[in-house]
Amino acid sequence: MVSDGNLVKQGLAKDIGVSNFSVKKLKEIIAAGSTKPVVNQVESHPYLQQSSLVEFCRDNKICVTAYAPLGSGDRPDSLTKLDEPTLLDHPTIKRIATKHQTTEAQVLIGWQLNRGLTVIPKSSNPDRQALNLASSALKLSENDMADIAAMDRHYRYLHGEFWMMEGSPYTLENVWDE
Ligand SMILES: NC(=O)c1ccc[n+]([C@@H]2O[C@H](COP(=O)([O-])OP(=O)(O)OC[C@H]3O[C@@H](n4cnc5c(N)ncnc54)[C@H](OP(=O)(O)O)[C@@H]3O)[C@@H](O)[C@H]2O)c1
Repeated sequence: MVSDGNLVKQGLAKDIGVSNFSVKKLKEIIAAGSTKPVVNQVESHPYLQQSSLVEFCRDNKICVTAYAPLGSGDRPDSLTKLDEPTLLDHPTIKRIATKHQTTEAQVLIGWQLNRGLTVIPKSSNPDRQALNLASSALKLSENDMADIAAMDRHYRYLHGEFWMMEGSPYTLENVWDE
C-alpha cells in the first residue's frame, strides 16, 4: 500500500486532489511534508461561501472547486431538511439574473467563476448543461458581488451525517473542524 503522495513521487499520479478538507486538515498534510494537493473540492454557494478556506487555498496555490453550487436540489429525501433555504428563488439572485438577462443558475455558477473558483453544477438535462456552461460569459459588477457576499449564512446542504456510520472516525465536529 502506498500513500497518495508516493503515487505522485512514483509518477503514477500527476497530482493529488482532496475533498471536504478544512484549513486545519490542509495545514496538517502540508506540515507533514505530504504532497500538497492541487485541488480541494468543497460545498460552496452563496449560503456557504467558505471565504477563509478559499483565501487559505489561494495563498497556498490550491484550486477550490465548488460542489452543490445550485443547492443540490435532487438529493434523496433522507438527506434533505424540510426547512432548508432555496438558492434559485432568493430575491437577490433573481434580481441579478433579471438585470443581466440571464438565469438564476447562471448567476450562481458565474458568481463562483467571478470569485476565482472552479465549479461543478450537475445537470442531467442537455439544455440546462448548455446554459450552465454559458455561465462563464457572465461578468458580475462589484455591487452584484457585494450583494451576493451578504447572503452568507454558513449553511450546509450536505451536513455530512452520512459519513458518521458505526465504526467511522468522523463526528460532526471533526468532519468540518468547526
Ligand atoms: N465531493 C463531495 O463530497 C461532493 C458532495 C456532493 C456533490 N458533489 C458533486 O458536486 C456536483 C454537483 O453537486 P449536486 O449535484 O449535489 O448539486 P447542484 O449541482 O447544486 O444541483 C443539482 C440540481 O440542480 C439542478 N439544475 C442543474 N442545472 C440547473 C439549471 N440551470 N437550472 C435549474 N436547475 C438546475 C439539477 O437538476 P437537473 O439534473 O434536472 O438539471 C439538480 O436537481 C456533482 O457532480 C456531485 O457529484 C461532490
